[in-house]
Amino acid sequence: MEATRTQPRVLVVDDDQSALDSLRQILEREGFVVGCESSAEAGLEALRSEDYVVVLSDLRMPGMDGMDLLKTIKASRPDTEVVIMTAFGTIEKAVEAMREGAYDFVTKPLKRPLVVRSVTRAHEKAALKAENLALRAELEAVAGDRSIIGTSAAMRKVMDTVSQVAQASATVLLQGESGTGKELIARAIHRKSSRSNGPFVAINCAAIPVTLLESELFGHERGAFTGAFSRREGRFKLADRGTLFLDEVAEMDPMVQAKLLRVLQEGEFERLGGTQTIKTDVRVIASSNKSLMDLVKAKSFREDLFYRLNVIMIHLPTLRERTEDIPLLAQHFMARYADKNRKDVRTISRESAELLMAHDWPGNVRELENTLEHAVVLCRGDTVRTEDLPELVARDTDARQFLTIQLGTPLDEIEHKVIQQTLRMTKGNKRLAAQLLGIATRTVYRKLEN
Ligand SMILES: Nc1ncnc2c1ncn2[C@@H]1O[C@H](COP(=O)(O)OP(=O)(O)OP(=O)(O)O)[C@@H](O)[C@H]1O
Ligand SMILES: [Mg+2]
Repeated sequence: MEATRTQPRVLVVDDDQSALDSLRQILEREGFVVGCESSAEAGLEALRSEDYVVVLSDLRMPGMDGMDLLKTIKASRPDTEVVIMTAFGTIEKAVEAMREGAYDFVTKPLKRPLVVRSVTRAHEKAALKAENLALRAELEAVAGDRSIIGTSAAMRKVMDTVSQVAQASATVLLQGESGTGKELIARAIHRKSSRSNGPFVAINCAAIPVTLLESELFGHERGAFTGAFSRREGRFKLADRGTLFLDEVAEMDPMVQAKLLRVLQEGEFERLGGTQTIKTDVRVIASSNKSLMDLVKAKSFREDLFYRLNVIMIHLPTLRERTEDIPLLAQHFMARYADKNRKDVRTISRESAELLMAHDWPGNVRELENTLEHAVVLCRGDTVRTEDLPELVARDTDARQFLTIQLGTPLDEIEHKVIQQTLRMTKGNKRLAAQLLGIATRTVYRKLEN
């Protein structure tokens, strides 16, 4: 088998040459690239020059022994996993090794399946750690844009549009389900625009009683209505030279819609109860989680206003349409809430990651964010486990996809099926499928060709 960088590598250290020979044979047959050294000193030397993530070492050796080797490795390269081999009857030594950070121990005389299982799991653990590190590095690279996370094609398209339209003064309509990031994008457009030194004023049209919305937007004169004790400026004036974000614009009543249309057309309006015409230079960004077009058809939203708002439309994809962004987003929120709660939570177990991938996220990114906050708060170690996830997500096992395989099916056929089904689950994303399967992306390509 050709040795590639992505093949799993294990370093075996034992002063007994025949043990080295048989371990090499056993592990190579499992697909490992195996390095053999007959002393702890030589083992350390090999670790310096070559990249091993797993070390399988004997405990009793002349010179430096396995325990010292373990301690040295854990002190200098903690991400390397060490499996210790001990003679039968020296279980206290094995316990001590575990306390010093060994991943596992196997007793001599060695049993082939136990060795294979232990080394394979140690490798999986090391690979998961490396993966999490890589994700974090990728995250830091994309997080420059005040943390709008997403490398999926759908999200990149959104960000491209944001860059293109930010400088213009045209009205933008953001459409997308609840929690997809409409407000986040509205703020990003403002930040990237030439108005970024001006104010960003937001108003949620659904949260303000109909009777107050008009005065909130346009202001009022003293005595304009009962309770109007003094003149007040509206948000349209407060947002002068800046951006006004009209959140949930679908909830606006027809009278206010008419007045809004005029500001958009002429850039001017009067306060409630006033006659003075007020000019304002505002860029409007509107958002809606309902389709405004449908509301126009149902005659509950003015068609002319719709066209005024819809000069540039950005549709925000749901999270289930861009599942490949889930690992990055989860990592991002985990780091954020670990920081906030001063906890050293660093990784997400593979099983938890699978559950996150399988959930359908009706509340989109906001729901994912809440899920990770929940998980970090409950997490006891450095890894988010399935029991840390909210029940709604963890119980979602039905949504996990299963594959039924008849006993006796040749292994390479099983492998092929699993890869294909995983690809289906990731909607064809090979990198993500590889990540879930714990193999290199190029291995996915290669296996599919066979
Ligand atoms: N791509 C993203 N990267 C990082 N965080 C995101 C992303 N999208 C959304 N969020 C976060 O998810 C939460 C919800 O986003 P936001 O409030 O912008 O959604 P929304 O579409 O306005 O939802 P609603 O319609 O319910 O008001 C926020 O905390 C936001 O920071
Ligand atoms: Mg919102």
